[in-house]
Amino acid sequence: MLRRAAKFEVSLTPTSDSLLAPVAEEPRQWLLDRALDEFVADLSALDEAAPHMVPGASRPKIEVAVDEATPAVTDGTLLVSGQEVMQTWERPLMRALARAVTRPGSSVCEVGFGLGISAGFVRELGPARHTIIEANPDVAAAARAWAAAGGGGPGVEIVPGRWQDVLPGLGRFDGILFDTYPLDEREVDDYVVRDATFAEHFFGHAAEHLTDDGSFTYYSNEIDSVSRRHQRALLRHFETFSVRVVDGLRPPADCSYWWAPSMAVIVAAGPRR
Ligand SMILES: C[S@@+](CC[C@H](N)C(=O)[O-])C[C@H]1O[C@@H](n2cnc3c(N)ncnc32)[C@H](O)[C@@H]1O
Repeated sequence: MLRRAAKFEVSLTPTSDSLLAPVAEEPRQWLLDRALDEFVADLSALDEAAPHMVPGASRPKIEVAVDEATPAVTDGTLLVSGQEVMQTWERPLMRALARAVTRPGSSVCEVGFGLGISAGFVRELGPARHTIIEANPDVAAAARAWAAAGGGGPGVEIVPGRWQDVLPGLGRFDGILFDTYPLDEREVDDYVVRDATFAEHFFGHAAEHLTDDGSFTYYSNEIDSVSRRHQRALLRHFETFSVRVVDGLRPPADCSYWWAPSMAVIVAAGPRR
């Protein structure tokens, strides 16, 4: 099976009769055609979106774990261990995440403080309880200073440590906002390169720590949609989800972690436990 598009061609050759067995020949062919057509459509859509992207730059390797390195903030960038962990052009995305999970009087858990941008938006929406988990001790100290200076208001709790260690003791929340960064190269390989989306390794934990009618949000760098692989991963842990594309983003031309003018914000609900 071969597909030719304007700028590429792709072929699919089953190497085993057991592929899609015991489906009969005609429906089997239909499934194979559809899988191939989806790949062609996806790559063609990315090519159409590319003229609106910035070139981007390569990311240096993480030499010191992100929760053991000293952070610095320069020109709106949170730099930790040589990584551009957060930049201020993400503000519209952070606003969308905060709005997706925060209701007045509700309980919200944010994983990752960064520059505190999403934390500020969460606060504006008036939750009764706002718990922020942060693994880097210096960033956690900045979060405490933010809370003490009034940025946080009442009901804010800064929990230092990796979510893997501290979340089990924190109970359930009406809203969970997940925005961390890989701590080391193993997490880059496992969660950024291999998973359908970075937050996937957190899905089961989010489902465990949501109230029955709570919402979980994160963003996915899939530009204008989410993949079927991503959807399957979500549906293993949640009954329903919605996707909103946030566009008009302006990463700098040399950004080492994103290069498109949009990202997808996912809101999942109906935790399956
Ligand atoms: C992208 S920033 C968060 C940005 C934030 N939403 C904002 O609006 O500024 C990611 C943060 O997650 C923290 N982090 C990374 N891995 C973590 C983990 N396993 N547990 C808790 N925090 C983590 C990093 O130290 C960093 O401060």
